[in-house]
Amino acid sequence: MATFQTLPGFREFYPEDLVRRNHLFRLWRQAANSFGFAEYDAPVLEPLELYTAKSGPEIEGQLFSFTDKGGRQVALRPEMTPTVCRLVGAKASALKRPIKWFSIGEFYRYERMQKGRGRCFHQFNADIFGEPGPEAEIELIALLIQCFGAFGLTEEDFHVRLSDRNLWFYYLGALGLDDARIRGVLGAVDRYEKYGDDAFKAYAEQFGGLEESLKARILGFLKINSLAAIEQAIGELAAPAGGVGAPADKLQARLADWKKLLGALDAMGLARFVTVDFGVVRGLAYYTGFVFEAFDRKGELRALAGGGRYDDLVEKLGGPALPAVGFAIGDMTFGLLLEQRGLTPKFVTGPDVYCVIGGEAERLAAFRDIHALRSAGFRVEYPLKEVAFGKQFKAAAESGAKVALIYGGDELAKGVVKLRDLTQRSEVEVPRDQVAAAVRDLLAGP
Ligand code: HAM
Repeated sequence: MATFQTLPGFREFYPEDLVRRNHLFRLWRQAANSFGFAEYDAPVLEPLELYTAKSGPEIEGQLFSFTDKGGRQVALRPEMTPTVCRLVGAKASALKRPIKWFSIGEFYRYERMQKGRGRCFHQFNADIFGEPGPEAEIELIALLIQCFGAFGLTEEDFHVRLSDRNLWFYYLGALGLDDARIRGVLGAVDRYEKYGDDAFKAYAEQFGGLEESLKARILGFLKINSLAAIEQAIGELAAPAGGVGAPADKLQARLADWKKLLGALDAMGLARFVTVDFGVVRGLAYYTGFVFEAFDRKGELRALAGGGRYDDLVEKLGGPALPAVGFAIGDMTFGLLLEQRGLTPKFVTGPDVYCVIGGEAERLAAFRDIHALRSAGFRVEYPLKEVAFGKQFKAAAESGAKVALIYGGDELAKGVVKLRDLTQRSEVEVPRDQVAAAVRDLLAGP
C-alpha cells in the first residue's frame, strides 16, 4: 500500500518533539515579556506582492506561491517583517510608543534542504518601531542574547556578529559606486564567507567586471572587527584620498551611535557576546543600518538568528515613514545547538496521579475523585477499560506518576482509598473526602 509522506522539508511534531518545541516557545515568550514586548499574530498566506521587490531576490526565489481560486497571486509567508510593517503601519498613529512587538509563527521557504535548513520552520520575531536611534538596537540585541541565555547557553556557545550597512553604503558611495553597484557588492559580501572569491562572480557578470583595486578595498572593509577599526575607517572616509567624502558630521554621528550601542551592551554585561564583524551585511534587501546575526561560536552551524534596522520598509509598504529594527531566531539551528550542548529538555509527560480501579462498581466512585482532582489542576490518568490489578500497577509504575490511588471494594466499603507513594513505595489509607488534600501534600514533598 502506498504511504503518504510529508512534502520534502516539512516537519511533523510527535508529542516528544512538541515538548521540545513548546519549551523553546515558552522561554522565548518569557524573555519577550520580561522586556515588555507585546505579542501579535497574522495570516500565514499573504498577497504575493508583499514580498516581491521588497525582501530581495534571494527570498523571492524561495517563495511558495500560487494563484488562489479567486485569481489572486498569493504566497505562504517566508518571513514576518513585511507583515508586521503592514500591521504597525495601518495603526501607527494610534499605537503607544515605543512599539515593541513579538510573535512566534511558522514560515515557508522553498530552499535547498541542509542541516538546520528546511522548507518550513518557526521563527521568534521581535521588532521595535518608531525609534530612530541605537536605543532600539540596544534593547533588541539584549533581548536576543536573553533568548539564548534563558536556555543556559553562554558566550562560549554563541555570539552576535554586529555590522553596519550604513557605513558600507557611505564607504562604497565614497568609492564612486551607484546604488545598484552598492547592492551588488553587498550581495557579494553576504556570500563571501561561504564562497570566497566566487561570491563576486554575479557582480562581475552584472557590471562587466570588477577592478582588483576595488575588490581589495572591499575585502579590507570587510575585515573591520573592532570599534578602533571603525573609528579609523571613519577617519579615512571623512577625508578620502581623491574620492568623494561622506559628510563628516554624519560620519561622526554614526561613530557616536556605535559608541552608545557598544557602551550600553557593555554596561549590561553583554559585551562578551558581541563581535564587531563587517563581513555580515544580511541577504535581505530592506536593511538600512546596523545589522546583526547570531552564530554558534564554533562556526559549525548556519545562522541562528538575524536582524537589523529597516527604516524605509513601513513607508515602502504603504504606511507612514517609521523607523524600525528587529530580528528573528529560527527554531531549527537553535534546536541543533541545544542538542549539541545537552540542553534539550527531557521528555516529561507523566501524570501526577494514576488511579488503579478494582471493577465497574469501584469505577464510578473513582470517577468522582478523578474529576475533582483534575478540576483542582492535577494530571490524573486511569485505565480506560477494566484490566487486571497487576497490569494496572505496572501501568502506574510505567506512567511516571508519583502517586497511585487504589480503589478496591474493601477500601470503599470502609470509606477510604489507598494512596501509594510510587517513589517511596509506601502506602496509607485516606478518607474519601481528604483525597485531594493528601495528594497535594504528597506531591508537595517533605
Ligand atoms: P533571516 O535571516 O532570513 O531573517 O531569518 C532569520 C532566521 O530564521 C535565520 O537565522 C534562521 O535561523 C532561520 N531561517 C531562515 N530560513 C530558514 C530555513 N529555510 N530553514 C530553517 N531556518 C531558517 C528574517 O527572516 C528577517 N525577517 C528577520 C527580521 C525581523 N528582520 C527584522 N525583523
